[in-house]
Amino acid sequence: MKGKKIVLGVTGGIAAYKAAELAREFIKRGAGVHVIMTKNATEFIAPLTFQTLTGNPVFVDTFQLTGEWEIGHITLAESAHIVVVAPATANVIGKIAHGIADDLLTTTIMATRAPVLICPAMNVNMYANPIVRENMEKLAATGYRFVEAGYGELACKTEGYGRLACLEDIVEDVEDILTVKDLSGQHVLVTAGPTREAFDPVRFITNYSTGKMGYAVAVMAKRRGAKVTLVSGPTSLPQPRGVEFVPVSSARQMRDAVMANLEKATVVVKSAAVADYRPADYSESKIKKAQKPLEIRLERNPDIISEVGRDKGNRILVGFAVETDNLIRYATKKMMEKNMDLIVANDITLPGAGFAAQTNIVKILDREGGSVDLPLMDKMDVAARILDRVRELMGKQKGASRGKKR
Ligand code: CTP
Repeated sequence: MKGKKIVLGVTGGIAAYKAAELAREFIKRGAGVHVIMTKNATEFIAPLTFQTLTGNPVFVDTFQLTGEWEIGHITLAESAHIVVVAPATANVIGKIAHGIADDLLTTTIMATRAPVLICPAMNVNMYANPIVRENMEKLAATGYRFVEAGYGELACKTEGYGRLACLEDIVEDVEDILTVKDLSGQHVLVTAGPTREAFDPVRFITNYSTGKMGYAVAVMAKRRGAKVTLVSGPTSLPQPRGVEFVPVSSARQMRDAVMANLEKATVVVKSAAVADYRPADYSESKIKKAQKPLEIRLERNPDIISEVGRDKGNRILVGFAVETDNLIRYATKKMMEKNMDLIVANDITLPGAGFAAQTNIVKILDREGGSVDLPLMDKMDVAARILDRVRELMGKQKGASRGKKR
């Protein structure tokens, strides 16, 4: 949402205070935020809060002038990249659904051609009310987008659906709506996280992978319009919405899940840190300690990406190489031997690179000897650059097959 103009509509519900945090999240991500409040919203939170957070004037009155000759609603409606209504009361949803435009917010929504994302928050019975549901359905059918309210304890001391959706979900939907769908029609299969290789019911061998890089690729591919299947080893990350999620534990389970989902995939990104070895023996009961040293014999796990590489077809295959030395040499060797199209070479000894960090420093190598050297950047941005390279390769493949046909 960098450089995008978000009009944030705040209506009169107790969740109005959460809109302040939401405005901050948008600003943190580089958006310009312009707040329109209904009169009732100003009973819950002061316009000054939003004005201070956004650095922009807050609009309440329809007839407020922004410039010498410009009427507020037209300016905001025309210049917004997206209008987000959070929280949206049953009242405002009803008004929009019936074309009522009697204040600045509803007038702006009526006049805008930008996408409108509505985030309802209200009492549980109001949210379940057939009239509200019908209004929401009508709006959804006309192209208005919703982030459904969440479940939990409500301000009116009841429990149920009606809480404003969590802010991360709202932010993610805004990112999604604002992203160009240049991967639509593609199906991206992503693996992420570590694997666990158990040797008794309470112990296993694993590695430091957190899954962040793979999850970033999955979310970014989803935002760009691809269907996504995420095969994930055990991580502590929340399951991304809008992505087919296949949880696995061991390398062998991951292999089976990848093979079961390979057919439909047009792109495979293997960012999982798969254990190369597993304990040769598994004890059904917990191994008790003894005086003598414990020896665990390890045997090889299947190399999943090599198997995919052998049966790659027209798919684009992207692998990762996590190294501590000889980065380019080892990564290039892996790419060639395992029949990958691209390899993301990752020197985890650099500060800001590697498993646990939210950032990474990588080089994206291709089979022709090309290398895109990326500076330290957020894993979401790294994911976007990897997918850019995937798109370029797809373009080349298309060009080549067109050439052959001629
Ligand atoms: N990989 C895989 N299956 C394995 C091991 C690795 O699919 N059993 C994939 C990883 O997901 C990654 C790529 O292969 O995309 C390279 O992984 P890495 O562990 O760096 O490579 P290895 O071939 O295992 O080499 P090393 O000896 O450095 O561990």
